[in-house]
Amino acid sequence: MSEPTYRVTTLGCRVNRADSLSLERDLAGRGYARAVPGTVPDIWIVNTCAVTAEGMRKSRKAVRRCAGSGARVIVTGCGVDMDSSQFTCQGVASVHPNAAKERLVEAVCGAGRAATLDVRWTPEDLVRVPVKVQDGCGRYCSYCVVPYLRPKPWSKSIREVLLEVDDLRELGAGEIILCGIDLGSYSDPETSAGLSALAGEVGERAGGIWVRLSSIELSDVDDELIGLIEERALRRHLHLPLQSGDAEVLARMGRKYTPAEYIERVSSIRAAVPEIAITSDIMVGFPGEDRVAFSGTRNLVEQLEFSRLHVFKYSRRPGTEAYDLGDTVSAAEKDYRASELRALAASTASRFHAGLVGRIIPVLVEGAMDSEPGMLFGRAESFAGAVFRGTPDLIGRVVELRVLASGPEGVRGDISGRQAGGDECVG
Ligand code: 5AD
Repeated sequence: MSEPTYRVTTLGCRVNRADSLSLERDLAGRGYARAVPGTVPDIWIVNTCAVTAEGMRKSRKAVRRCAGSGARVIVTGCGVDMDSSQFTCQGVASVHPNAAKERLVEAVCGAGRAATLDVRWTPEDLVRVPVKVQDGCGRYCSYCVVPYLRPKPWSKSIREVLLEVDDLRELGAGEIILCGIDLGSYSDPETSAGLSALAGEVGERAGGIWVRLSSIELSDVDDELIGLIEERALRRHLHLPLQSGDAEVLARMGRKYTPAEYIERVSSIRAAVPEIAITSDIMVGFPGEDRVAFSGTRNLVEQLEFSRLHVFKYSRRPGTEAYDLGDTVSAAEKDYRASELRALAASTASRFHAGLVGRIIPVLVEGAMDSEPGMLFGRAESFAGAVFRGTPDLIGRVVELRVLASGPEGVRGDISGRQAGGDECVG
């Protein structure tokens, strides 16, 4: 008899994606194989998201689709912690909160399928692998429901993270993204060492693998971390959520900085690492965000020259402090503000990418373009997209790209005449 199969569908953030990889590993440890695309698996786990109402809606939709497939559907993730009743529809076998994820596979498979110790499991996508090093948030920004859904502070020891890095290096991973719900609060449970100590050790151990930090609060970026970026232990990119460019809105959001402080800190990071790419999250339509406050955000986004921006429309989350402030900005106005900011971000991104034209930059090759035969795509250190002609054997490797053209999403260029595999920027 052939082995039973699984699929895992993931919504939301990088941490959730890393959680899904752990679930996959656990399933593989009990003899399950990843289902061939297009086939119905025996077990289908849906790992949900609740950060916005839209996240919940997409999660429900994914669960409904899977529930109709005939697979044994198991639902977990933040959506379950938020409101499990939304997922207990026909065709769903069981729902499990985040806290039960670690033992979920054991609970679902029962004693009948014992875990084997030595499984050779490989993530489906080895080019860029999220490695969860921290969970839990105690910040309680007034709009955010995540601290209620993932309250427990947890950090993985440096020792264990390094073992995972060893595994990924041997498997041939291209890039590791260290991620956490509140990454800056990382603290090694064995030594109390912080994020920069972890990142330094991972950078050393990774060999040729790129290492990148996922979203981090600006106040947690210290000189040591900047030093690691300068010496290329970490990629030249930081994702620093801003949320708003208005001091009063930021205060009501429970954010602990002013626009002026954000500008100053970003300037000093750029002074230390001139080529660094800074990306960010912005939220529009927070209660009480009037036209003046929004234009403050607009001006700041223009001034900060982000190379990429994620724009969120405020979603009123039950249980949060801001819930009582109502939802004062209309849906149409949120749409307008979001599209304004996206257009602005496209022009600042275009300027950043135009600055790369004529240079030779390292690019991690992700895959072949379906839409353009013979062409590959990848990402630069800044996370800029890159398109170039090449053969699929380069997937997962770092190539040196001569940048010939640019746009809002990234660059196009040429890798011919250069040896693939280098990772130094010589431009
Ligand atoms: N509404 C809209 N966006 C939100 N985010 C967090 N909570 C909400 C909410 N209630 C966004 C923030 C954060 C990103 C991960 O999700 O911009 O940085």
